[in-house]
Amino acid sequence: MKTQLAVLERSQSDPVLEFAQDAVAGLTDSPRWLPCRYLYDERGSQLFEQICDQPEYYQTQAEAAILERRGGDIRATTGPVTLIELGSGTSVKTDFLLAAYTVNGESIRYVPIDVSESALQVAAERIARLRPTVRVAGIVGTYESAFPLFRGHSPVMVVFLGSTIGNLNVTESAQFFTDLSDSLEPGDFFLLGVDLVKDADVIEAAYNDRAGVTAQFTTNIFARMNRELGSAVDLDQIRHVAVYNSDWQRMEVFIEFLADQEVKIGPLEKSLTVAAGERVMIEISRKFVIEDLQEHVEHFGFTVRNTYFDDDRRFGLLLMQSAGA
Ligand code: AVJ
Repeated sequence: MKTQLAVLERSQSDPVLEFAQDAVAGLTDSPRWLPCRYLYDERGSQLFEQICDQPEYYQTQAEAAILERRGGDIRATTGPVTLIELGSGTSVKTDFLLAAYTVNGESIRYVPIDVSESALQVAAERIARLRPTVRVAGIVGTYESAFPLFRGHSPVMVVFLGSTIGNLNVTESAQFFTDLSDSLEPGDFFLLGVDLVKDADVIEAAYNDRAGVTAQFTTNIFARMNRELGSAVDLDQIRHVAVYNSDWQRMEVFIEFLADQEVKIGPLEKSLTVAAGERVMIEISRKFVIEDLQEHVEHFGFTVRNTYFDDDRRFGLLLMQSAGA
């Protein structure tokens, strides 16, 4: 059964051309970088799911354990709400929330938002099968494009799991909180999952798994450039480097060039040279101190109602409520 999904207008320009332009902009900047959203083509999304199964990558299980154990408490705090999930993927962890909100046969509306239509289809079909009282209305699009739709659906709880907010830098995340706060009505809830500051070795191991899946995930951005932009990069002459920057409380993930290489950007008929030893920043993943974050969100009109942690306090969930713009 095919579920009807709303498709929000995608960007006006051709996606490959946009990728080419972003690649040139980032690779000619100093230091060089690429936007991390390009990690997630079909291959990259598969690799990310495999990362979540690696023993070193504690985040997924820690967050799932919190949702499983505390779903009932979250529901008791919010009362009945429409659940809106940003970057829902296949909604696997969210199922613990859906279970908690329908435990006595209640019905609930669930609005998963994701750029991957196939992931939304998988989620919608599974939920229809397993949770018949959940009414799913999926949206294909970026979460920013969906913000304007939130108003008029209160009471809602917006859910943003997986510490994805950690991929935004300080400026971008401030913009995110401003936009989200503007899109909510007073009394609406926001549930945010964040990876916590901890021992650097534990964090670094999560991004340097022994099976090398994370290395493949990072390298895939250049494999994708080869496929889509004709970049002709020798993938045996680049490597994944992931280090924890404790001053900035963030993981920094790079591709390091092991030899001088020409990188072609076919659609723009451009070419640039990256020298041996140079690094291209691919991704940051910020880690959070719960008290600092709690204070931070108050500046955007949110009041923290509850915080939840796994037994080892590796991961946290913040349940906050909007005071309205
Ligand atoms: C998508 C934010 C959950 O930053 O930990 C995992 C992405 N990158 N391993 C993270 C990622 C490398 C991940 N999140």
